[in-house]
Amino acid sequence: MTAPAAKPAMLPFARPCISEAAVQAVAAVLRSGWITSGPKVVEFEQAFAAATGAANAIAVNSATTGLDLVFAALDLQPGDEVIVPSINWVSGPNMVELNGGTCVFCEVVPGTLNCDLDHVARLIGPRTRAIMPVHFAGAPVDLDRLRALVAGRPITIVEDCAHAAGAHFRGRPIGGDSEVAVFSFHPTKNLTTAEGGMIACRDGELAARLRVLRFHGIRKDAWKNHSRSGKDLYNVTAPGRKGNLPDTLAVLGIHQLADLERMNAERARLAAIYQRELAGLRLCRPLDQALGDGDVHAWHIFVVLVAPGVERAAVVDGLERRGIGTALHFPPVHSQTFYRQKYPGCSLPASEDVGARLLTIPLFPGMGDEDVARVVAALRQVEAELLP
Ligand SMILES: Cc1ncc(COP(=O)(O)O)c(C=O)c1O
Repeated sequence: MTAPAAKPAMLPFARPCISEAAVQAVAAVLRSGWITSGPKVVEFEQAFAAATGAANAIAVNSATTGLDLVFAALDLQPGDEVIVPSINWVSGPNMVELNGGTCVFCEVVPGTLNCDLDHVARLIGPRTRAIMPVHFAGAPVDLDRLRALVAGRPITIVEDCAHAAGAHFRGRPIGGDSEVAVFSFHPTKNLTTAEGGMIACRDGELAARLRVLRFHGIRKDAWKNHSRSGKDLYNVTAPGRKGNLPDTLAVLGIHQLADLERMNAERARLAAIYQRELAGLRLCRPLDQALGDGDVHAWHIFVVLVAPGVERAAVVDGLERRGIGTALHFPPVHSQTFYRQKYPGCSLPASEDVGARLLTIPLFPGMGDEDVARVVAALRQVEAELLP
């Protein structure tokens, strides 16, 4: 009797890349006696501001919390509209809703999955309070054009930079000159702190409001007060959130940030192999890069679009049988139950079409060339099965 074929080891779509030095640094914080927000957060914020050129950097415990704090600090009012792409993680739209605003979903350009700025231009109206583009997969949105669209109007551009740590637009780091930009440090992200995020913003007053709202609405740093001398009572100036990042995670962020350029360069190198090897496939095609002069793609994820008429679930199954993990970034938000019920008339044909065809295949800096070759070979085999 022949033994059943061994199941191939699973290659996930993403895996964090954490140095031994970072592990030691986390252990040192754990042993230090001060494990929540403190000097490591300050150091991380300063390093992030220096790396991006941002005037202010505010560490938070997730990008979701960061977006929540931004809409709270902007004092979003009922009826205020926020234009946001529907091909998106639900965080941004959810935070608009929780802060009393109204989502106005825009289309994406099918080739890049970045906001369709022609559609955004048509959606801007008297109630538009903010526009929240996503630098999808790490490819920068055309910020010059977006800024020109809102020039002279009371509209804030809230950049969702969850995919964009290390990306550049026209030679400038994303977040460096943003009105307000929110990064994610979730485990699949280019820079991870396990959970965490960073708000970068230009205006000092907005930054001060965000810092107060980040910690219960208390105006002073509690960690500077831990000697409890009694003379420095805290003072709540607004009902705030609890959004602070602990030092145990901030120290990981300091190490990841120092390694970000190298890790992103490796992502870009692997992505270039995919671009070359997948070019002739009928089963699927990679997203367009669409980079301008001075743009740097962060290559957070590698997304392909399954050819029209091919059943995506069959591709996912075929890859899974060969030990290749995949993910979906993202089904349209407007088709989720809550949003369908709240915005029943919302119809976005381009988003609905690509939302059913997009598929994320493995990309992370610890992958070897042989892993990329394995994914490409698996896609070719699945193509032979599904499109003989
Ligand atoms: C586009 C986008 N925005 C926001 C988030 C939320 O990030 P976090 O998990 O840090 O809250 C994510 C996370 O996947 C994302 O992909």
